[in-house]
Amino acid sequence: MEKFVFFGGKGGVGKTTVSSAYALKCAREGLATLVVSTDPAHSTSDVFDQPFGDEPRPVEGHDGLDAMEIDPDEAVDDHLMETKRALADQVSPAMVNEIDKQIELAHQTPGAYEAALFDRFIDVMENADEYDRVVFDTAPTGGALRLLSLPEFLEDWIDRLIEKRTTSIDLYERAAIGDREARRQLDDDPIIARLRERKEMFEFAGRTLREEATFYLVLNPDELSIRETDDALADLAEYGLDVGGLVVNRLTPEPDDDEHGRGGTYLRERCATERERVARIHEKFAQPVVATIETRVEEVKGDLLDEVAAELEIAAVATASEQ
Ligand SMILES: Nc1ncnc2c1ncn2[C@@H]1O[C@H](COP(=O)(O)OP(=O)(O)OP(=O)(O)O)[C@@H](O)[C@H]1O
Ligand SMILES: [Mg+2]
Repeated sequence: MEKFVFFGGKGGVGKTTVSSAYALKCAREGLATLVVSTDPAHSTSDVFDQPFGDEPRPVEGHDGLDAMEIDPDEAVDDHLMETKRALADQVSPAMVNEIDKQIELAHQTPGAYEAALFDRFIDVMENADEYDRVVFDTAPTGGALRLLSLPEFLEDWIDRLIEKRTTSIDLYERAAIGDREARRQLDDDPIIARLRERKEMFEFAGRTLREEATFYLVLNPDELSIRETDDALADLAEYGLDVGGLVVNRLTPEPDDDEHGRGGTYLRERCATERERVARIHEKFAQPVVATIETRVEEVKGDLLDEVAAELEIAAVATASEQ
């Protein structure tokens, strides 16, 4: 099993639940584990009944398990501030206002949310030395994944910029004969330095996601969820990312044979429909179904979390054949 494990899927299918259960399983098997949550509405804080913040913190009552929560809105704000700061140093004061306005506009697009979150994911991956396993309760989708092609664009851009700057610095040097400062300016050029930094960051992300990460998709036995899974698989395949399997969550429990009231009949019919859909999921997708989890009467937390963890056929520690 890879070091980084992502649980993707559409809204509300059970990503946070399943990723918390899997993280718990990893910790129980002795791996130093971090679970990273991103949803302010229902997050690891609710699952483990304790608050978490922007930095990893031990989960009380579970040895070897840390948790952190990234607030996506905060991530967008931080990203905005950082970008403004990085650019403000490089343009004339008269331009700053105009540029700030443009940057703010850019951050109001839906893609900005995904991009900012992706930046934070990369940050977590870069600083995960102390962990054997890092579990993310969501996965980057189309928009954010496109950033993985950024290094090529940036490379081209950086080359052209260096060329231009070299020419202007040469002219400057010729004008101010003997001024050795000018040559150094190119090496320290803040714009080039920033582009290089971004390029290296996305290179690292692409490499890490391809070589050290596995993606699982969580879905429910309904048509919309199946379609969205199809789309998500196509996106992941396009970027060469490895999908370990599918987790089908929220199956209706079968009624007992002697239950013939309205409730029993309803459940029996629902179960039949869902069985068909699960069969279709098996047929349609090449990836293995690594768990089918029934809907519990209550929210999945406490002992229920262990129960769900036991139903996940996802290895925590690498099996002999994997090593
Ligand atoms: N098998 C289950 N049985 C009972 N309740 C469940 C089950 N799976 C998930 N839930 C509940 O459904 C709700 C949504 O689940 P969860 O938060 O894990 O989904 P999510 O995919 O992370 O959602 P979001 O996209 O909003 O982040 C939660 O209240 C959770 O407790
Ligand atoms: Mg969630």
